[in-house]
Amino acid sequence: MPTITWKTSETESITANVPVGITLMEAAVRNNVPRVWGECGGCLSCATCHVRPVGEWFGRLGFPNDMEDDMLDFTEVEREDDSRLSCQIKVTEEFDGLVLVVPE
Ligand code: FES
Repeated sequence: MPTITWKTSETESITANVPVGITLMEAAVRNNVPRVWGECGGCLSCATCHVRPVGEWFGRLGFPNDMEDDMLDFTEVEREDDSRLSCQIKVTEEFDGLVLVVPE
């Protein structure tokens, strides 16, 4: 199982082993990551699963399609160039070591 870390503040983070095949939003909810709510269950209608992959991870996770890109305009914390909606990303073995920032 890949190990994934969510940085929830300058000094705090949550690290968990995550099963392959679930989404990064589901992984965050299961691990009680603050501010990743996944209110719509992953159907791309709430933007409450906003994360920012750290550094090179942005390109390694693929890129938002047009629908995700449109929905990123509705995040509570304003989007950045590397913002993603984590319900749109399925965990693979290659995600081991992934670090995500949860915007504050
Ligand atoms: S969980 Fe609603 S858009 Fe991602």
